[in-house]
Amino acid sequence: MSTVHKGLTALACLLTFATDASRAEPGPDGSTLFLLACQACHSFGKESATRIGPRLDGIAGKQAGTATNYPYSDAIKNSGLVWDRATLVAWITGAERIVPGTLMAHHNHLEPREVVLVADHLLDNTIKP
Ligand code: HEC
Repeated sequence: MSTVHKGLTALACLLTFATDASRAEPGPDGSTLFLLACQACHSFGKESATRIGPRLDGIAGKQAGTATNYPYSDAIKNSGLVWDRATLVAWITGAERIVPGTLMAHHNHLEPREVVLVADHLLDNTIKP
């Protein structure tokens, strides 16, 4: 079993827990959390600027590192990841853990339930580019 898959299995448990917790405690929604934790580097939705990170529109079901006109690291291009809820949660929780050498050397302060909200926001509100 690869490190990535071990990580994803562990995160599947976390995901179940986080989803339960999100029902109990109201707080900022996925859109607000995205603005706080991700928008400094990523655009998403109507806004089309490319920032330090790639645009995140249309990533649901897409292979990681394949947007055109973005200079990805070889690490993410060769990762073989496909973006769905589990991979996004794993990535947002610790990008370097699942893709060592990624340029998204970024540490946020999101709680597990907030990570799930951001992942669902990206998957549910995706505009196909
Ligand atoms: C400090 C800047 C920065 C922040 C903040 C940041 N990212 Fe990133 N992100 C990047 C960079 C740079 C890459 C490209 C990684 C690479 O090439 O290895 C990236 C890549 C990604 C990708 C892969 C996209 C693709 O086309 O495959 C996703 C998904 C992503 N980030 C989600 C997020 C989310 C969600 C947040 C907020 C929780 C976030 N990022 C916060 C810089 C950032």
